[in-house]
Amino acid sequence: MARDGALYVCQSCGATHAKWSGQCSACNAWNTLVEEIASRPPGALAPARGAKARGLSFEGLASETPSPQRISTGVAEFDRVCGGGVVPGSAILLGGDPGVGKSTLLLQVCAEAARRGARCAYISGEEAVEQIRSRAHRMGLADAPINLAAETALRDILDGLKRDPFDLVVIDSIQTLWSDAHEAGPGSVTQVRACAGELIRLAKKKGVAVILVGHVTKDGQIAGPRVVEHMVDAVLSFEGERGYPFRILRGAKNRFGATDEIGVFEMGDSGLSEVKNPSALFLNEGGQRAAGAAVFAGLEGSRPVLVEFQALVAPSAYGTPRRAVVGWDSGRLAMVLAVLEARCGLGFGTRDVYLNVAGGLRISEPAADLAAAAALASSAVDVALPQDCVVFGEVSLSGDVRPVSRMESRLKEAAKLGFARALAPSSAAEAGGCVVTGVSRLMDAIDRIREERWD
Ligand code: TYD
Ligand code: MG
Repeated sequence: MARDGALYVCQSCGATHAKWSGQCSACNAWNTLVEEIASRPPGALAPARGAKARGLSFEGLASETPSPQRISTGVAEFDRVCGGGVVPGSAILLGGDPGVGKSTLLLQVCAEAARRGARCAYISGEEAVEQIRSRAHRMGLADAPINLAAETALRDILDGLKRDPFDLVVIDSIQTLWSDAHEAGPGSVTQVRACAGELIRLAKKKGVAVILVGHVTKDGQIAGPRVVEHMVDAVLSFEGERGYPFRILRGAKNRFGATDEIGVFEMGDSGLSEVKNPSALFLNEGGQRAAGAAVFAGLEGSRPVLVEFQALVAPSAYGTPRRAVVGWDSGRLAMVLAVLEARCGLGFGTRDVYLNVAGGLRISEPAADLAAAAALASSAVDVALPQDCVVFGEVSLSGDVRPVSRMESRLKEAAKLGFARALAPSSAAEAGGCVVTGVSRLMDAIDRIREERWD
């Protein structure tokens, strides 16, 4: 029997249930319901008896007051992903796997912004002040005038922020905070929601930009509090493959800018350094390109990025052949394989397929279909693509190759990096000196690869 006022809250999706059960009926996750004491969030509607409504006062879109100037943090890649600097009074959630470099990035952002005159606070619930200090020292940021604190009690943090005026506050991480107004433990949905809510309210009221760090679970969701994603103005994710130095900052939601921008960083001994021109970063340097490799002329946000797709198609030793993919969507791989089988007569039923995007980048553009198909076909027929060839185009289920966005910029960037030829949708026209071998059907592309016909 539930205690009075007790609720069972799913730690995965935040749905509330009156009774405990093994499975959440909202998101179907198992063993995620945890008892939490219901308490009315501050500011929620009080029982309306006797209270008098005041009506609304409407305002027009045009306004006399200029919008506040964005805070330029001095970390240009970070500013770009935020849409050109951090908006005062906004709340940003930064998610990422443990150890990817979230604390490092935000310490750097804080330090650079403080050096430019912004009043910055870095509040950590995970590290002691001495640890942060020694990290900053190692990163050459020891002279930056940041205000450090190690604190997890929400009440103290709010009080501190009310007393001192700040422009930018980093909370590392939202899961370590706890509010004494709630009984649930730190990291539970109730606590995370309450703490984020209070901090966001303070941010709006005082015009402080608040950046919250959120941990990410194994399956890639910002742990438990997906609710927080709805509350903040921007959700950024920091990604990187283990073993590669490159880290990518991606916007998943942004009320103040485009969401498809990325920022590229390289993790080194003294912190993160920005990569201003990442277009050639993910290409394998030197050497002959072997069968199974295709260079994809991609776009990440507003910037062209060239990246190598590597495929290996090998006889399978088991009844069920393996499909392994790194850096690309496995559903998309299954689709491209099915189209290659059904429309181009290439058989993969008894062969293992491995597909890898070089350099640790994750590609999500549909324009990569043709590059993946070319890499797979090249490995299957054991014929290498020309060294100076890039590939892009979307493949439909009918086996057609469809045009993609901004083909001219892709070709120009490829030409700049020494690629003279592109296997691309037939509507693409030569640009920047990169000649187009146009294909309208995937079958044509495969025939050209097999017969090495590139005129
Ligand atoms: P950190 O920012 O603590 O990760 P997060 O806050 O996302 O959990 O980064 C930790 C990793 O970064 C750790 O594996 C070491 C590496 N690192 C460097 O390689 N160089 C550096 O200068 C710093 C500060 C960290
Ligand atoms: Mg950290």
